[in-house]
Amino acid sequence: QDQCPGGSCHPQLGDLMVGRGAQLSASSTCGVDGPQNYCIVGYLEGEKKCFTCDSRLPFSPQGNPQSHRIENVITTFDSDRRLKWWQSENVHQVSIQLDLETVFQFSHLVLTFKSFRPAAMLVERSKDFGRSWKVFRYFADDCSLHFPSVPAEPASFIDDVVCDRRYSGPEPSAGGEVVLKALDPVFEIDDPYAPNIQLITLTNIRVNFTRLFTLGDTLLARRRRDPQEKYYYSLYSMVVQGSCFCNGHASRCVPVDGGRGDVFTQSDMVHGRCVCQHNTAGENCERCQPFHNDSPWKPGGETTPNICRCNCHGHSDSCHFDAARYEETGGASGGVCDDCRHDRTGPQCERCRPFLYQDPQRALEDPHACI
Ligand SMILES: *[C@@H]1O[C@H](CO)[C@@H](O)[C@H](O)[C@H]1NC(C)=O
Repeated sequence: QDQCPGGSCHPQLGDLMVGRGAQLSASSTCGVDGPQNYCIVGYLEGEKKCFTCDSRLPFSPQGNPQSHRIENVITTFDSDRRLKWWQSENVHQVSIQLDLETVFQFSHLVLTFKSFRPAAMLVERSKDFGRSWKVFRYFADDCSLHFPSVPAEPASFIDDVVCDRRYSGPEPSAGGEVVLKALDPVFEIDDPYAPNIQLITLTNIRVNFTRLFTLGDTLLARRRRDPQEKYYYSLYSMVVQGSCFCNGHASRCVPVDGGRGDVFTQSDMVHGRCVCQHNTAGENCERCQPFHNDSPWKPGGETTPNICRCNCHGHSDSCHFDAARYEETGGASGGVCDDCRHDRTGPQCERCRPFLYQDPQRALEDPHACI
């Protein structure tokens, strides 16, 4: 269904990660160059369980269950989804980045950890394909220690950058989440089309883990031989919920031309090119079609669709594209109104027919103004 019945229209939300394994990267992954050991934290003193990761080949449940590449975090509904995860090496600074092929609208991010959640991390986004970045939010158990220059109080404006302490504690030790909502904590966005949602657009999103959670082991490091092996970041899943960005002028999207999306696109993939309605055009419906731009382009509102049309001053209901007029106006408008009523003429029915003149007391739109 392409039509947008009544008012504006918006495409559906979905997980932008799906189908984009090739556009996802991590700065550290355990076992990429060959087998590497890691251990899990035992509850009893001295208890130690160690395992191997080997991420030289992609994960497969039988053949290669020890592969912990970053694409393992993309949600699937396979039965093996709890058997696979991404895991970093034992380093504090690790980043994960998703590069999108065009502008998308962001709704929320949910990270589900297999390890402890990081003691400190941040999320940043780019709107210009990675040329510039802006931090969205900081997360830390102790904000003043890790991000002393960032305010810790709740945000009062959408673009306030704050440090959130709710998602960095030591509990739970596995399965913990970090959640970033586009409009949180200003509004709860149960309605993804709440006002201002269009402000949150992005072409790239990056999660930087900056400090591992280490149970105070740095102090004990001298007593134990290998505390480091137990600490790393590992993620079961990363969900980047969003939609294609159509300025309120489309309800459906298709793959971007020349996009890098996976060849065998999945049915639940969120594509980036809008199928524009309301006589709009462009990847994001960001302009009027050439012969429908007599009134300036506007994003579709909740109550008015802001359809691009010819301006016939109310004296005609249809128009056509005229190349000569398009040239004459330097590309500003190629619209010419058809069959002007009320004794009018001109490309926008803006003049009175020969031998009539515009009554100066009446408006241009007045049907009785030509006398
Ligand atoms: C996040 O990490 C990347 C590379 O790993 C770095 O270039 C960038 O500056 C970091 N962002 C912040 C805000 O520290």
